[in-house]
Amino acid sequence: MASVVLRDKKSTRNLWRESEFMNMRCFWVSFFLFCGLWVIGFCDQDGFLSISCGGTTTYTDSSNISWVPDGEYVSTGNISTSSSGDPIRVFPDIEGRKCYRIPVNNASSLILVRAQFLYKNYDGSGKPPAFSVSLGTAITSTINLTTNDPWTEEFLWPVNKDTLSFCLHAIPEGGSPVISSLEVRPLPQGAYAIGIGDFPNKSLRKSYRINCGFANGSLRYPVDPYDRIWDNDQNFMPLHLSTGFTIQRSLDLSSLREAPPAAVLQSARVLARRNVLTYNLPLDTLGDYSIFLYFAGILPVSPTFDVFINGDVVKSNYTVKISNVSALYITQKGIKSLNLTLKSITYYPQINAIEVYEIVDIPPEASSTTVSALQVIEQSTGLNLGWQDDPCSPSAWDHIGCEGSLVTSLDLSDINLRSISPTFGDLLDLKTLDLHNTSLTGEIQNLGSLQELEKLNLSFNELTSFGSDLDTLVGLRILDLQNNSLQGIVPDSLGELVDLHLLNLENNKLQGTLPESLNRETLEIRTSGNLCLSFSTMTCSGVSSNPSIETPQVTILPQKKHTGHDHIAIIAGATGGAILALLFFSIILFICIKKKRTEVTYTSRSTTEMRNWNAAKVFSYKEIKAATNKFKEVIGRGSFGSVYLGKLPDGKLVAVKVRFDKSQLGADSFINEVYILSQIRHQNLVCLEGFCHESQKQILVYEYLPGGLLADCLYGPISKKASLSWVRRLKIVIDAATGLDYLHNANEPRIIHRDVKCSNILLDEEMNAKVCDFGLSKQITQADATHVTTVVKGTAGYLDPEYYSTQQLTEKSDVYSFGVVLLEIMCGREPLSHSGTPDSFNLVLWAKPYLQAGAFEIVDESLMGTFDVESMRKAALIAVRSVERDASQRPTIAEVLAELKEAYSIQLSYLASHEHAN
Ligand SMILES: *[C@@H]1O[C@H](CO)[C@@H](O)[C@H](O)[C@H]1NC(C)=O
Ligand SMILES: *[C@@H]1O[C@H](CO)[C@@H](O)[C@H](O)[C@H]1NC(C)=O
Ligand SMILES: *[C@@H]1O[C@H](CO)[C@@H](O)[C@H](O)[C@H]1NC(C)=O
Ligand SMILES: *[C@@H]1O[C@H](CO)[C@@H](O)[C@H](O)[C@H]1NC(C)=O
Ligand SMILES: *[C@@H]1O[C@H](CO)[C@@H](O)[C@H](O)[C@H]1NC(C)=O
Ligand SMILES: *[C@@H]1O[C@H](CO)[C@@H](O)[C@H](O)[C@H]1NC(C)=O
Ligand SMILES: *[C@@H]1O[C@H](CO)[C@@H](O)[C@H](O)[C@H]1NC(C)=O
Repeated sequence: MASVVLRDKKSTRNLWRESEFMNMRCFWVSFFLFCGLWVIGFCDQDGFLSISCGGTTTYTDSSNISWVPDGEYVSTGNISTSSSGDPIRVFPDIEGRKCYRIPVNNASSLILVRAQFLYKNYDGSGKPPAFSVSLGTAITSTINLTTNDPWTEEFLWPVNKDTLSFCLHAIPEGGSPVISSLEVRPLPQGAYAIGIGDFPNKSLRKSYRINCGFANGSLRYPVDPYDRIWDNDQNFMPLHLSTGFTIQRSLDLSSLREAPPAAVLQSARVLARRNVLTYNLPLDTLGDYSIFLYFAGILPVSPTFDVFINGDVVKSNYTVKISNVSALYITQKGIKSLNLTLKSITYYPQINAIEVYEIVDIPPEASSTTVSALQVIEQSTGLNLGWQDDPCSPSAWDHIGCEGSLVTSLDLSDINLRSISPTFGDLLDLKTLDLHNTSLTGEIQNLGSLQELEKLNLSFNELTSFGSDLDTLVGLRILDLQNNSLQGIVPDSLGELVDLHLLNLENNKLQGTLPESLNRETLEIRTSGNLCLSFSTMTCSGVSSNPSIETPQVTILPQKKHTGHDHIAIIAGATGGAILALLFFSIILFICIKKKRTEVTYTSRSTTEMRNWNAAKVFSYKEIKAATNKFKEVIGRGSFGSVYLGKLPDGKLVAVKVRFDKSQLGADSFINEVYILSQIRHQNLVCLEGFCHESQKQILVYEYLPGGLLADCLYGPISKKASLSWVRRLKIVIDAATGLDYLHNANEPRIIHRDVKCSNILLDEEMNAKVCDFGLSKQITQADATHVTTVVKGTAGYLDPEYYSTQQLTEKSDVYSFGVVLLEIMCGREPLSHSGTPDSFNLVLWAKPYLQAGAFEIVDESLMGTFDVESMRKAALIAVRSVERDASQRPTIAEVLAELKEAYSIQLSYLASHEHAN
């Protein structure tokens, strides 16, 4: 092995002679020999991922690294071959992100991502492309293959999720992006952290990694077990003032977290002739840079020197101790080039390795609530909008506008949405929402929570009613409702929107007097094209401007022809013979009958006349107040209102559900709810004890179930999850399925629940389950009618995806929702979670592949080791079938019930045999 003895400054010059070169070569030959053995013996490529872009085969290269084709990681682009024979992937130059999704092992907190781009005139056009590249949410660099071909980019990326997106973005006039390889390497724990300070909001983009004093090619794996490429030194010093040298000494490397390989540290650039050593390193962009300088005491002396960067001393009197390694970390802000100078104090300047990185900011991600809401909305459009990864960064998705990481505008105009689904209410930062020409029908709904909303365009739809959400949108400035089918009068409450300065109501079917509160200078109202609409009471006579809120309206539509007979389907109204008759006699014809309309509108004056019909007891408000001890104890809260504990005079405990004013049903729907509930008596359906409909109050009185909601048992603050064994959970869902089966099959008319979810399953003290909340139910009045069409009221996460395209809720929609419940009890998590990775936001999308594959590691932790695999498999398979996108593929609730019963008995015998064993 080579060894050099330096006695003093003067003698150094003589060292650089042929003999030393011989020794050096000797060292490297033996080093590589050693390494070769190491490769065969112990090389460990743990966590390496080497993707050959456009490649079609798996192969191992000369460094013994295994390469895989890229098909698994990318779904767009075309395969091609460069003129040098290398496979490449080309993305035809169209807008949007073209992404590789790279699985990342979180065992290391920092990874190296290296990409190579190659043009080599593969298309014969002689026009190398330029494009930009992003990692995660950060735009990291612009690649210009005219300047360099091939072009290599390397990043140190902090791991924060299990998948990383590496995307290529076409730029105007840039041509088609192209890529040839992508490599991921884990880096040592804690490495480079000092250089970046506040991980995880920063990434490092490599500018230089120099193996100082080494001129014979670049070194990488297996010399560097992390496969960093250490470039040779010759290019960086046009004047070879001195040659580097290598000496092997045993160095203690453990003190450097970056762990540069010993082979790299064992060569150094040492300037023997002069006392100033300079590296001049031009940088791509003006920016902040992190600089890592490595020093190793490979010489038998300890040189001391000052370190200057761009003229400033960053370290004075720096000493490299014999047989020690050390490093300097320096951050330089706002530089465009780097002049690194070492000025000797004793002996001579020396440096062993240099790394220079540009510091790249990683923009924050949009909130997970927003992301999952947008995913649900995309799903509901039935279109592939290409909404992947983060909605705002590195560039906003189509149809979306952002301010920082906030989604502030959404434009889905001309897309067939049909209704504003509840998920829109989760887009809390929206300032602009444009849903014009999206086939919206019914009332304006689910927007009440959008407190930032300033501009709402719902024009060119078929909306019929204002709903009650608009009055809460206090920041609204522009409201465009032109060309809808809005009927009746303009609600007073719009006047509360004090910032409103444009209200377009043109081309609707509105009439009556405009509320005086809208008559202000700052507000422009457009009203043309309505039946009769103005501020003056004189011009529109005969139309009441303030109809009683209590006045229920029942709309009866002749159904479209089915089998040649004209049936009457009752939509959004009271149903069943008794109630129909009752209503029929208590209605007053609504004053306005429009020409050529097929609808006939009736009005019921009095609700007290409903007293004493049907089994349910009619309570007075006074009785309710007494029973609940003036609404003292709240036992539940929902979007509809609160539920109070009550005690009837006979001592029976009841749950009293009081609707908020805002959530009140039309009186007809309320009657409908009461009617349906009072008809149904089944052990797995919550029993209605009575109701109260008085002085604008809508109150339902149910039997009280002390076990509470299944949802609370699973997710409540005092989680009872652990006490819910697998067999108990199966029993609960069997009970619930039995209840649903009764609704679907035992009853005539058949009933679709429409809002099956964990918070609509109640438990008694023996943990028997009962399904509740039929307020949203709709009956199927005819044997041949397979669906009802109403405004959707389901819950995000449970809603049948087919509803979005068909606008129909069927029994299979209940099966879907119930399937989601099954997934919940298996996995112990909610259908839409706002934490974790985007891939896991949606329970159905996340769990399905695992369960299909029998991969039960996703099963609720508190069930682990306590269930029979066959029992779980049965339940999993039926759950997966229940949440099929295609409703026709889903089983009926009866089939679900049968499968669950089998799963239950399998688990019982498993438990029995285990008891025996113990
Ligand atoms: C450079 O490395 C090659 C092997 O990669 C070796 O054959 C050659 O001798 C080395 N040259 C010197 C000057 O060490
Ligand atoms: C990696 O992920 C697993 C599961 O997501 C987690 O339990 C573990 O703590 C993570 N490890 C690190 C180092 O972040
Ligand atoms: C790429 O580099 C070439 C030569 O430096 C230059 O002419 C061209 O404008 C660059 N292209 C882009 C898109 O920056
Ligand atoms: C680099 O910096 C050193 C010391 O600050 C200075 O003497 C030298 O002229 C600089 N070189 C260049 C090329 O700027
Ligand atoms: C409304 O959207 C449909 C597509 O859903 C489109 O065909 C139609 O042209 C649009 N109408 C207007 C007036 O833009
Ligand atoms: C709402 O959208 C329609 C259709 O594009 C447009 O004509 C109208 O100007 C928009 N309203 C406002 C207030 O921007
Ligand atoms: C809007 O309504 C007016 C009046 O009904 C009608 O003339 C016009 O065609 C409608 N515009 C669109 C785009 O439907």
